[in-house]
Parts: sequence; C-alpha cells; structure tokens
Amino acid sequence: MNEQDPQHDPQQDPEQDPRQDSPDVPPEAWGGVHRGPLRTGEWVRLVDTKGRKHNFALVPGKKFFSNKGSVDHDDMIGREEGFTLTSTAGGEYLVFRPLLSEFVVSMPRGAAVVYPKDAAQIVAMADIFPGADVVEAGVGSGALTCSLLRAVGPHGKVTSYERREEFAEVARRNVDQFLGGPDGSSHPAWSLRLGDLAEELPASGERYDRVILDMLAPWECLDAAAGALRPGGIVCAYVATTTQLSKFTETVRVHGGFTEPHAWESLVRDWHVEGLAVRPGHSMIGHTAFLVTARRMAPGQSPPRKRRRPAPGAYGPDYTGPRPADVADLGEPPAGG
Ligand SMILES: C[S@@+](CC[C@H](N)C(=O)[O-])C[C@H]1O[C@@H](n2cnc3c(N)ncnc32)[C@H](O)[C@@H]1O
Repeated sequence: MNEQDPQHDPQQDPEQDPRQDSPDVPPEAWGGVHRGPLRTGEWVRLVDTKGRKHNFALVPGKKFFSNKGSVDHDDMIGREEGFTLTSTAGGEYLVFRPLLSEFVVSMPRGAAVVYPKDAAQIVAMADIFPGADVVEAGVGSGALTCSLLRAVGPHGKVTSYERREEFAEVARRNVDQFLGGPDGSSHPAWSLRLGDLAEELPASGERYDRVILDMLAPWECLDAAAGALRPGGIVCAYVATTTQLSKFTETVRVHGGFTEPHAWESLVRDWHVEGLAVRPGHSMIGHTAFLVTARRMAPGQSPPRKRRRPAPGAYGPDYTGPRPADVADLGEPPAGG
C-alpha cells in the first residue's frame, strides 16, 4: 500500500477506517486540543525540511508565503493533521497541530518563559493535580500558566498574579489562544490578576494547595505564600541564578513553617540515533533555571531540627544571607579543620 497516496489510503475512507469516527476531545475538558480534520481558525505548525517552523491560524482563501512560494490554507482545512504539503516552488512542509510544548516556545513573549522541560518538572514535583487550587506569579508570557491549567483541569483553580500590565496582556492572549473557548472565553479555572502577589495574595484571604513563584525575588513572596498555603501544600520557586537559589532556600529555612527545602535542576540531552551512530547530541540546553520546593507545615508546627551539621564554613563570615536560627553558632569551621 502506498501511504503517501490518499487514493490508496484507507484512512481517507471513513468506511474503511474506524478511527475516522473518533469524536473530538470534549470541549468541557478544556485541553486546547482537537481531534479530526483541521478546522477554520485552528492553529497549525508547518515545519520545512531544514526544521524551520511556521505557526499560523487557518483562514479560508488565505495563503502562507515562504521563500519556497506559497501554500493555500484551503489545502489544509478539512484534512487530518500529519501530512506533507508541497508549496508552489517545491518546498515540502510537515503539517500538524502544535503541541503545547511547541506552542509555548514559539508564542509571542513579554518576559522569558518557563521551558517545557521545567514546566514538566514543576507539574510533577510540585504535584499539580486535577482539581488543585494553584496560585502563581508572575504570569510573564503565560507559558507555565498553560501547563498549570492543563494539570488542574476545569475543576481546579489557577490564579495568576502579574505586576506589569503589558505582560499580563501578552499572557492573556497566549493562554486564550491555546486554551480559550471558541467564543473567546478563557479557561474556566483561570483568573489573571494585575498586582504584586506579596501584597494581593494576603489581601485576598484565599487558600491554596500550591504556590509557584517565577520572578526575580521570590523570597519577598514567601510570607504571602506561607499565609495562603494549606497544611501539606507546596511552595515551588523557579530561579535562574545560584544567588537567587541560595537566598530563597535560606529564607524558607529561616521561616520555620516549611519542611527542609529541596533544590535541583534538570538537564535534558537529545540523542542522535542513526544506524551505528548512536551518541549524545552535540548541543543541549545546558542551563535554564533551578527549582526549589518545600511543604507547608500545619499551623504552629515546625520541622525536626537537622541532625547533620552544615558543611564547614557554610555559614562562615563570608556568608551574608539569611541565617537559620539553629546554625547561628555553627558558622566557623572547626579549629584546625
Ligand atoms: C520570568 S517572568 C515569568 C514567566 C512565566 N512564568 C512564563 O512561563 O511565561 C517573571 C514575571 O514576574 C513578574 N513579577 C515579578 N515579581 C512579581 C510579584 N511580586 N508579583 C507579581 N508579578 C511579579 C514580572 O513582571 C515578570 O513578568
């Protein structure tokens, strides 16, 4: 059978291919994804033979132009995604609906985005679950918001604080583009609020299961996070530098109402797999950011004191950051050590 040729492809014949009658994803799932033929207004992603990507919404009668001529949107509308289209000047394009991980790295940006590898870590390690109440700041370009909304689903709640109006607008457009309803409505679990989380969250009086902080100074929001988190809840910070990592982690320790913070980063390396040439890829995204999580203790409770002494000199005279009470007198390296 020639799979390239629709004339010989049972997938093009609903009588022969039972997959053709699989229903669309229920709109009440708010997943941002459709099944079945590509529709007017939906976004598609065209990838050329050099790996260049082009994302756009399908409009009847419109053409997509490139240095290889043009292709008609009408030649895509109504077809099942996953086909190759040839432009008027012989360029070949792979056509699919964009995945969320592809959308967030190609959408317009106000601020830097949380990359998909880190969004996956946040969803898994901060344990974002269907029905969870999550608050995040700042919303930036809305990349992490999309993953959080997907994870909590329509029965959860994602409240996103952003103090810069222009970024909030970018985020609104991006999140609505991927996860919004056909009538232009936003995901029902989402509220976008303009303001500083450190001030607005305590004023709201709301309680949450998870607090996610992606900003320059997350330690400034720790008291607000502690006040809003239910016992057992998780605070998670995403920080780009080691100085931020240190300051946030020590601030969590000093607070006393959280478990010992867990700090880590994830490194993802592609592999080249071709015949006998099976080796790591030459390039990788070496560093994006660090993650820190800690769990909120019940009111009035504090975690057990650490039984291990800090490393010699860890809190010595050169250390100027927040100093946990139980290491105040342990700063100097042991004599002769
Ligand atoms: C790196 S961006 C966030 C990116 C976002 N998580 C994403 O994936 O697209 C940081 C944002 O935090 C906002 N911000 C910083 N401190 C804030 C605070 N205390 N409350 C609300 N927003 C804050 C900044 O204006 C900026 O837009």
